[in-house]
Amino acid sequence: MADISVKVNGMTFPNPFVLGSGPPGTNAKVINRSFDLGWGGIVCKTVSLDNSKVHNTVPRYARLKSRTDKTVIGFENIELISDRPFEAWLDDLASCKQKHPDKILIASVMEEYNKDAWCEIIERTQETGVDAFELNFSCPHGLPERKMGMAMGENPDIVGEVTGWCMEVSKIPVWAKMTPNITNITVPARAALDAGAHGISAINTILSVCGINLKTLRPMPTVEGYTVPGGYSGQAVKPIALRHVMELARMFPDVPVSGMGGVETAADAAEFILLGSSTVQVCTGAMLRGYELIEELCTGLSDFLDKHDFSSVEDCIGHSLPYFTTHADLVDRQRTAKRANAGRANRDNMWKGNIAAETKQLAADE
Ligand SMILES: Cc1cc2nc3c(=O)[nH]c(=O)nc-3n(C[C@H](O)[C@H](O)[C@H](O)COP(=O)(O)O)c2cc1C
Repeated sequence: MADISVKVNGMTFPNPFVLGSGPPGTNAKVINRSFDLGWGGIVCKTVSLDNSKVHNTVPRYARLKSRTDKTVIGFENIELISDRPFEAWLDDLASCKQKHPDKILIASVMEEYNKDAWCEIIERTQETGVDAFELNFSCPHGLPERKMGMAMGENPDIVGEVTGWCMEVSKIPVWAKMTPNITNITVPARAALDAGAHGISAINTILSVCGINLKTLRPMPTVEGYTVPGGYSGQAVKPIALRHVMELARMFPDVPVSGMGGVETAADAAEFILLGSSTVQVCTGAMLRGYELIEELCTGLSDFLDKHDFSSVEDCIGHSLPYFTTHADLVDRQRTAKRANAGRANRDNMWKGNIAAETKQLAADE
């Protein structure tokens, strides 16, 4: 059986499946339950120092359903970062880590553009014993109005500067989480890595308008008749997420990428690993299908690795990357293949012709 554990930045994940930051990691109770169910790692819901500035709305989710079987294929949220007090989070993170020392607990943090605030959140959070940080430079809604999240993540200079502040005080691995709402994701990623980040997480949600309620003519999710564009996730975003992960992995082959966006099955996860992810995060998939999904993910990945003779997840990471090339090269390859096929056909015809002639000659000789 293939080994599905994976070592990243010195941390050993029992399996590469990590619950992504969001509702699945919203307090100690759900985190502990998910570790018990078998998740290799968990990134907690993003935490900030002052929860009094975080005001969530109801509703804050909208769904895009398949035209045929009505299953949810896309999910939009306008949820903010955690609205729980920072002190409650410190207790939760410490107790979860004590209870699950063999699992990987990652603290997702976000602050305003202020060095003291970022240093304080890193220093106080790392005292809980968490294994790593994920810097949230990527929430696309609500937080940018306070110049946080994606407002930072789309500006490489700020990404570099803020990552540098965190690196001054962090004693544990730091991953920077990127927004897909930008033309070239490798530019802010490079800024984070140049400032010392140890890994990149991608992608956060895609800025979207999920739809209009055609009875009320109001855009969704509708809060007192109004809305804001929100973050799109789930199955529908997978092709875009795979493209970003592929670009990161090709640009930074030695940097661990934690890939996510639409993972619901072991096959989805295998695709992210084949394109360079060393860990795979799942957020919407767990919300829609339940945290028990982890069992199916582990068994399915193990079967996939066995079927293709990979001895471990590490063996499989980035396997499909060499098969991306330029369009001009595709044209050249096709031309060469056509020529080779034509040559083969000519040779075959010649053989057939020779055999026919020989047979005719034999018949005549007899
Ligand atoms: C309801 C909801 C809340 C989220 N909250 C956060 C968050 O607090 N911090 C963060 O970094 N990402 C957050 N995300 C983004 C996810 O972690 C993930 O990057 C994104 O949804 C793509 O993965 P998925 O398709 O598996 O959900 C949230 C996503 C959803 C659906």
